[in-house]
Amino acid sequence: MSFSVDPMRWWTALALLSTYGLMCATIWWAHRRRERARLFQQNQLGEASTGEKRVLVAHGSQTGQAEQLAWRTAESLHLAGRGVRVCALNEVDAAALAEVSELYVITSTYGEGDPPDSAALFADHLDAPDAPRLSGLKHAVLALGDREYEHFCGFGRRVDGWLSQQGATPLFERIEVNQMDEAAIRMWFEHLSMHAGAAAMDGWQAESLDVAGWRLAERRLLNAGSPGEGVYHLELEPVDGPLPTWEAGDLVHIAPPEGALNEAGEPDRQPRAYSIASVPEDGRLHLLVRLRRLADGGTGCVSGWLCLHASIGERLTLGVRAHPAFRIGDNADRRLLLVGNGTGMAGLRAHLRAREHARCRPGQGGSEAAASAVAPSWLFFGERDPQIDLHHREELQAWQSGGLLAGLDLAFSRDPHQPAYVKQRLAEGTRDIPEWGSQGAAIYVCGSLAGMAAAVDETLREVLGGDTLLALQRQGRYQRDVY
Ligand SMILES: Cc1cc2nc3c(=O)[nH]c(=O)nc-3n(C[C@H](O)[C@H](O)[C@H](O)COP(=O)(O)OP(=O)(O)OC[C@H]3O[C@@H](n4cnc5c(N)ncnc54)[C@H](O)[C@@H]3O)c2cc1C
Ligand SMILES: Cc1cc2nc3c(=O)[nH]c(=O)nc-3n(C[C@H](O)[C@H](O)[C@H](O)COP(=O)(O)O)c2cc1C
Repeated sequence: MSFSVDPMRWWTALALLSTYGLMCATIWWAHRRRERARLFQQNQLGEASTGEKRVLVAHGSQTGQAEQLAWRTAESLHLAGRGVRVCALNEVDAAALAEVSELYVITSTYGEGDPPDSAALFADHLDAPDAPRLSGLKHAVLALGDREYEHFCGFGRRVDGWLSQQGATPLFERIEVNQMDEAAIRMWFEHLSMHAGAAAMDGWQAESLDVAGWRLAERRLLNAGSPGEGVYHLELEPVDGPLPTWEAGDLVHIAPPEGALNEAGEPDRQPRAYSIASVPEDGRLHLLVRLRRLADGGTGCVSGWLCLHASIGERLTLGVRAHPAFRIGDNADRRLLLVGNGTGMAGLRAHLRAREHARCRPGQGGSEAAASAVAPSWLFFGERDPQIDLHHREELQAWQSGGLLAGLDLAFSRDPHQPAYVKQRLAEGTRDIPEWGSQGAAIYVCGSLAGMAAAVDETLREVLGGDTLLALQRQGRYQRDVY
């Protein structure tokens, strides 16, 4: 009996088998993706094997650089097969430390050697008399800073010193990074692979800016005749193609113009951060930039170029940077207490514009019901001259009469009749502010760190009570974009 095989059948069987194989592979990939997403949601990369103590990567970050490096660090440890958890330093306490055998801290410094906001609660442990002994713990610290400040990497140094004092063993010496210096950051990853068994990261690269992809479309001086320096409203658009997406609260980094030199007479390549003052629905990226006047009478490198020298249509090198610490996040449905001064109006305006668009969304027909579904906001804003320095005055007044702004409290330090700072306006709200707090409001502060944010923090502590402010901070209801 002859046994002949129809080649057509073989091909069909092979095709079915391949399809089945492909299906299995797709399901496996989908499962892997879901699993990775789940771990990411729990801020974990990989599971620790049974009995193995987890590795913790903790970040203290204000504008996101330390946080970004923390994730890259976790990735390199995870690629080497380690179970890693990533969290903000504020989430680290004695119990969390007891569960880990290795701790990697990546933190920036602000003010006078102070912690960034996402490490402020952790900083309280450093002074506690009952701080835990950490003899079983190994640690490494990457401290981000800027040598222009007196307390270079002050907070990173303090955390490192505290860990050693509590008995933890350094895996390698603290690495300090001046202005995100790439060589120092590369050294961190080399040390991780040498001393912590992490996978080598091929050439760490700073975020790339969008080279010549943007142009200056519009510039308007907002405060002609002000006793302070000029504040300019700038509108930027991509040279080709659509606007990228971003959220209210995000930042841009703008590179100095070609050929700019720094104080040492070397090429200045350090990008400057600016808070975005619009949302993508506005069609352009708006900024509020104050001209920086230098001690020798000259103007700041990037602000001088943006405000005075760049011509309309000129190309810019910039990058849009997510700034999770100032995004709306879980506060989208909450009332907002917005507090700021000067160019701090930029970050606050972006949140108000986002809410204005939410009130008019086409799906909701811009109806009264849609408008009332958006929780109200209350703006406290400080500047110098009441006649000249209320940036975007008409827009704010329209928002107040239209109900988007339930309150608009202004303070002008050069007001001839009633000179005041924004903290005074907050102190006057001693009845209403706690009421907003108990109704679930979130507080967003934007503007100068030294001149305003510290005083506002102190006043909020008085008005709401220290414990309440602490609770708001823990719940992500006290967010700051301060510089
Ligand atoms: C998170 C964040 C958000 C920000 N948002 C905004 C915003 O929305 N709007 C805004 O206007 N700014 C904002 N800034 C500030 C902004 O990033 C810049 O710092 C500011 O515009 C000054 O930059 P510049 O290049 O003009 O000045 P630079 O040239 O960097 O000069 C700044 C300082 O450097 C020194 N210096 C430099 N060159 C000389 C020299 N030749 N002689 C003497 N001293 C010199 C001086 O101390 C001077 O004060 C933000 C900063 C951060 C960190
Ligand atoms: C307002 C302000 C204050 C700062 N103060 C200090 C300081 O006291 N010491 C220091 O080393 N760096 C200081 N820096 C620099 C930051 O630590 C540095 O830019 C860091 O890379 C920011 O990282 P982050 O984005 O994770 O917060 C300061 C930066 C700003 C904008």
